[in-house]
Amino acid sequence: MEPDARDPTWRYPWPAGVRMAEDLASLQEWRGLRVLELGCGQGLVGQAALAAGASQVTFTDISEEPLDHLKIRLGSNSCARMVLHAWGEPVPDCPYDVVVGGDILYRPAYFDRLVHSIHQALKPGGEALLGDPRTELEPELGAMLRAQGFSVRTERRAGPYTLLRAQRAR
Ligand SMILES: C[S@@+](CC[C@H](N)C(=O)[O-])C[C@H]1O[C@@H](n2cnc3c(N)ncnc32)[C@H](O)[C@@H]1O
Repeated sequence: MEPDARDPTWRYPWPAGVRMAEDLASLQEWRGLRVLELGCGQGLVGQAALAAGASQVTFTDISEEPLDHLKIRLGSNSCARMVLHAWGEPVPDCPYDVVVGGDILYRPAYFDRLVHSIHQALKPGGEALLGDPRTELEPELGAMLRAQGFSVRTERRAGPYTLLRAQRAR
């Protein structure tokens, strides 16, 4: 199944993205980090990373429309970049310290492409933080990440949402 660049799901903020954005500053220190947001849609998680002090956030999506929307909203912010990226394709401007994604785990058929993008994007020791509204995630996602050398843990956070943390081996 090929991904659809006309995917309309960017048009509204998704619940775990909203909750993760509200929680983001408490998850770790963000100052000076280069951050990649995958499947950014309206980009709330990446904007929270900028607000928390990230030195650069690259907002990516398969669809041009959310990126145009963010260019209007954040165009004057020199720390923000908007770039087309379909999971599994070459990731722009690697490596990143952190990869973030809100509500992007809704299509298990794309997990292999998503894991490929995360693996390409992160520097050794870098971490992916992915938020999802469900209490249980598909075990195959963790298995695919572990097969690429990531250490993986999940926790239920206030909001509520589930946070998956995947750290790339050093
Ligand atoms: C459910 S929305 C979540 C949007 C946003 N992260 C949020 O929390 O509100 C999923 C987003 O992923 C994007 N997307 C879906 N499939 C994709 C793919 N194969 N590659 C890159 N982005 C994709 C969609 O265009 C959409 O913006």
